[in-house]
Amino acid sequence: MKLLSDQVSEREVQVVLRELALTGDVTGDVVEFGCYVGTTSVYLAHALQTTDKKLYLYDSFAGLPDKRSEDVSPAGEQFKTGELLATKKELIRNLKQANVPMPIITKGWFSDVTPDQVPTEISFAFLDGDYYDSILDPLRLIWPRLSPGAIIVVDDYANEALPGAAKAVEDWRRTHEVKQFKVEASLGILYV
Ligand SMILES: C[S@@+](CC[C@H](N)C(=O)[O-])C[C@H]1O[C@@H](n2cnc3c(N)ncnc32)[C@H](O)[C@@H]1O
Repeated sequence: MKLLSDQVSEREVQVVLRELALTGDVTGDVVEFGCYVGTTSVYLAHALQTTDKKLYLYDSFAGLPDKRSEDVSPAGEQFKTGELLATKKELIRNLKQANVPMPIITKGWFSDVTPDQVPTEISFAFLDGDYYDSILDPLRLIWPRLSPGAIIVVDDYANEALPGAAKAVEDWRRTHEVKQFKVEASLGILYV
């Protein structure tokens, strides 16, 4: 497995694909918030090409936004405003090279994404926006659209360099019930 970037590990991609497979019988499409160059997206698109599910990708294509206090960590000083900038063109080139069906790509800050830009039913979500608001904003958007049995995988839940990801999940879980929650590799996995 030759990954397009170091933003996810092989193990994480394997866990994401395993969880995606568990939602095969769940109604709805698949979303990835924070797709960057498409490291994970090409695998999601490949796995979905034999199904009737569509893949929706979201990114600012302007890199990371500003941190808020929840995101600050001495271990994460390399994560700065504007880091991890991939262009939409670069993403599309990578998807074409992977020879997978072209996903629906939305460019913009997650806080500006509107409900009409999100599938009406969602079976699986991969949230990889790194920061507190970049996890919470997609959670707010997708929550009313999740089908029973849907799974949400949040990257960097167990990454001390990006503490906002876990704080966002924990704040969300305080007011929103999930059937089960587990952590594997650096991923937080929510079973809805
Ligand atoms: C760690 S990278 C994602 C890696 C990607 N999942 C992969 O497999 O290659 C984080 C991405 O999230 C995007 N991002 C973070 N916060 C965002 C926000 N609030 N709105 C839009 N994009 C955001 C950044 O532009 C960046 O491309």
